[in-house]
Amino acid sequence: MAGVRPGSSSFSSPLSMRNFIGLSLLLCLTLCSLDKGFALAEADTHTVDLRSLFPATTCSPSTKGNKRKASLEVVHKHGPCSHLAQHKATATNHTQILEQDQVRVNSINSQIFKKLNGNEDLSQSKATTLPARWATSQGASNYVVTVGLGTPNKPLSLVFDTGSYLTWTQCQPCAGSCYPQKEPIFDPSASTSYTNISCNSTDCIQLRTTTKFNRCVADTCLYALEYGDSSYTIGLFATDKLTLTPNDVFDGFFFGCGQKNEGFINGTAGILGLSRNKFSIIEQTIQKYNRFFSYCLPPTASSTGYLSFGAPDGASNAAVKYTRLTTLSLSSDFYGIDVAGINVNGKKLSIPASVFSSPGTIIDSGTVISRLPSTAYTALRDAFRAAMTSYPLVPGPDEFLDTCYDLSSYPTVTYPKIEFVFGDGVTLELDATGIVYFLNGLKQVCLAFAENDDANDIAIFGNTQQKNMEVLYDVAGGRVGFAPGGC
Ligand SMILES: *[C@@H]1O[C@H](CO)[C@@H](O)[C@H](O)[C@H]1NC(C)=O
Ligand SMILES: *[C@@H]1O[C@H](CO)[C@@H](O)[C@H](O)[C@H]1NC(C)=O
Ligand SMILES: *[C@@H]1O[C@H](CO)[C@@H](O)[C@H](O)[C@H]1NC(C)=O
Ligand SMILES: *[C@@H]1O[C@H](CO)[C@@H](O)[C@H](O)[C@H]1NC(C)=O
Repeated sequence: MAGVRPGSSSFSSPLSMRNFIGLSLLLCLTLCSLDKGFALAEADTHTVDLRSLFPATTCSPSTKGNKRKASLEVVHKHGPCSHLAQHKATATNHTQILEQDQVRVNSINSQIFKKLNGNEDLSQSKATTLPARWATSQGASNYVVTVGLGTPNKPLSLVFDTGSYLTWTQCQPCAGSCYPQKEPIFDPSASTSYTNISCNSTDCIQLRTTTKFNRCVADTCLYALEYGDSSYTIGLFATDKLTLTPNDVFDGFFFGCGQKNEGFINGTAGILGLSRNKFSIIEQTIQKYNRFFSYCLPPTASSTGYLSFGAPDGASNAAVKYTRLTTLSLSSDFYGIDVAGINVNGKKLSIPASVFSSPGTIIDSGTVISRLPSTAYTALRDAFRAAMTSYPLVPGPDEFLDTCYDLSSYPTVTYPKIEFVFGDGVTLELDATGIVYFLNGLKQVCLAFAENDDANDIAIFGNTQQKNMEVLYDVAGGRVGFAPGGC
């Protein structure tokens, strides 16, 4: 029953725990009798006031925050807490979000597949639709933080991405082109601490090896990132002072100063790269934070979360459940997790362990809908449907969501509880906000998981499933933790 917290702004549930359990049991009498072979434990379901899950038109910033360490506020790009949101509230185009999500998933697999074969041209089937790319597609790019760059430091809103390594921002004079962004475009000539990187430096050579982009102009190192959706950024590989908070300032931070940036969605100034590459912010701040960061993604677009750097002070939070962080043999940049099974309402789904073991699972901040191997998805979907028979099933969109309900006539809904089970025995219960995706208000509320159409595709633990819990990356300690309790 984690996930339903009376104190949380996202749930208007005033129920006491005892009432809640009672209500769940009551609602269960109908649902649970469907599966006679299995006794439901108390409070195995989530009962949620649906309207509380919708973003409000005004921002209700989180009052919790994370005051422990360097902490940046995370906002949803399209929500009222973001200064990037369009002046007029345009309806979120979910078709577009889901399309972008699939492009991101394809580009992640393309990178992994390419590395698997050690030859870009071997990815025949994918190459026809998706040529080899150098970076993970931005996807729907929903979660944004604001950092300061340069001297004096200028605020820049960046999408943070555990699937990207190089931080970049658009730069004046935009020698090629810049897309419109909300904040003034970074001007290196106005920063006293900006420096270009020499083409012969080991850093330049290393970057060029990573990006497979091998060019310099005069003695100045260039970078290029081409994303899976044919957007790209090309510019000067540079260093400048990065300011996260007044106490968290990093001189000589490597970043891309983008002179030609195309195909990106208007608004944010670039990307903050959090993957496991030498040039990611995680590696560049190793002296201060020892490869520890955490984030909480807000439960709705009208609330806020945080991105923090550094391990928690003092007594460790007993509520954090840690599991092993794995490294994909295929691509060491991504954060791997060892998913071994899934429970629905406390019952283990019948999925052979081998289904998850190859090619494995990653946890990703930029993928919206979690992707599962076909066998696992089918088992989850069937169990979810079996627990949701009291609600009318409606057709899904053309995209990959196939289990949607019209809940518009229900004030509350009872979802089954979903847990991920890891290879080391740790179980992770998803927050109630992390189970469904509101595709069309309450008229199409869909199970927020999708099936991989290719058995070689990686499973992805996406950001819908990570909402409203703290996700802690102890990269040095080789573990990733999850703590309920929200943002
Ligand atoms: C939403 O996005 C899709 C795909 O990008 C597009 O075809 C459609 O016209 C958009 N719908 C609206 C209402 O803008
Ligand atoms: C960085 O390199 C670019 C391209 O060569 C040049 O135009 C610019 O003046 C250089 N900036 C600095 C601070 O050296
Ligand atoms: C960089 O290296 C190349 C090849 O080793 C050399 O020809 C060139 O002079 C070097 N440039 C600088 C600025 O050191
Ligand atoms: C981005 O901004 C440009 C110029 O303001 C505009 O023409 C274009 O339609 C915008 N693109 C999107 C996807 O909003």
